[in-house]
Amino acid sequence: MDWGKKNRLSQIIKPDTGRTVMLAVDHGYFLGPTHKLEVPEETITPLLPYADALMLTRGVLRNCVSPETSVPIVLRVSGGSSIIGDDLSNEGITTSMEDAVRLNVAAVALSIFVGSDYEQQTLMNLAIIVDMAEEYGIPVLAVTAVGKELGKRDERFLSLSCRIAAEQGASFVKTYYCEDFEKVVGSCPVPVVIAGGPKLETELDSFKLAHSAIQKGAKGVDFGRNIWQNPNPIGMIKAIRAIVHENASPEDAQRIYDENK
Ligand code: R5P
Repeated sequence: MDWGKKNRLSQIIKPDTGRTVMLAVDHGYFLGPTHKLEVPEETITPLLPYADALMLTRGVLRNCVSPETSVPIVLRVSGGSSIIGDDLSNEGITTSMEDAVRLNVAAVALSIFVGSDYEQQTLMNLAIIVDMAEEYGIPVLAVTAVGKELGKRDERFLSLSCRIAAEQGASFVKTYYCEDFEKVVGSCPVPVVIAGGPKLETELDSFKLAHSAIQKGAKGVDFGRNIWQNPNPIGMIKAIRAIVHENASPEDAQRIYDENK
C-alpha cells in the first residue's frame, strides 16, 4: 500500500490494537435534523476526545467541527436522495476529491446499494471514487446499505455486498452485524467495521452487538445513534471503546457505562 494511504488508514484503525471506534454523525445527509443531531456541534464536541475517527459530510465538518481537531475525518462523499424522496438508493457522488484533500481527510466514504434499482450506479460511484482517491492515496470506506427493498440483512446478502465492495477497490467496508458474521468477515479481504443501526432497547444490547462483531473478526465499529441518542453518550462511547480496544465483555462495558453516568 502506498505510504500516504497506509498512513491515513493507520490514523483510523489504530496500529496498537488493529481496531477502531469511529463515530458516525453523517445521518443528516438524507435524514435532515435527526433526533439528537439537530445541533451537530453540541452532540459531536463532547464525544470527540473518545472517537478514533469522525464520519460526516463536508457541510457539518466545515460548520460544526473545529479545524483544530486532531481526530481523523472520514468524509461522506455520496448522497443526493432524502428520506421523503422516491428512492433512497439513488445516490450520486457529492464531493470532489480536491475538496476532500482541502479538508485533509483520512478517508472518504460512500454507500453502495446492492440489490436495488441503483445497484449498478452506486457500484460505479464506488469504482469512480476509488480511482479518484487512489490518485491522492486516500482510503475509501464502502458502506453496504440495507433496506426492505434490498436483500435480507443476512450473511449471504452482507457477504455479497462486502465482497463486491472490496473487489471494486474499497480499502475498508462498513456493514451490519448478522448471524454467522464470521463468514462475512472471512470472505472480505479488507477490514470490516459495523454500523449500529437504529437505537437498541438497552445499552447492554449495543454492547452485545459490538462484542459479538469484534469477537467474530470486525476491526471496529462505526456507531452513531446507539451512542449519541443515548442519555449518557460519553458512558456509551467509553464502554464501546473498552469492548473494541480491550476485549471487554458486555458486562464489563455495562459497568463502565454505569460508572460514567
Ligand atoms: C449509514 O449509511 C449512515 O451513514 C450512518 O453512518 C450509519 O448508519 C452508522 O450510524 P448508526 O450506528 O446510527 O447506524
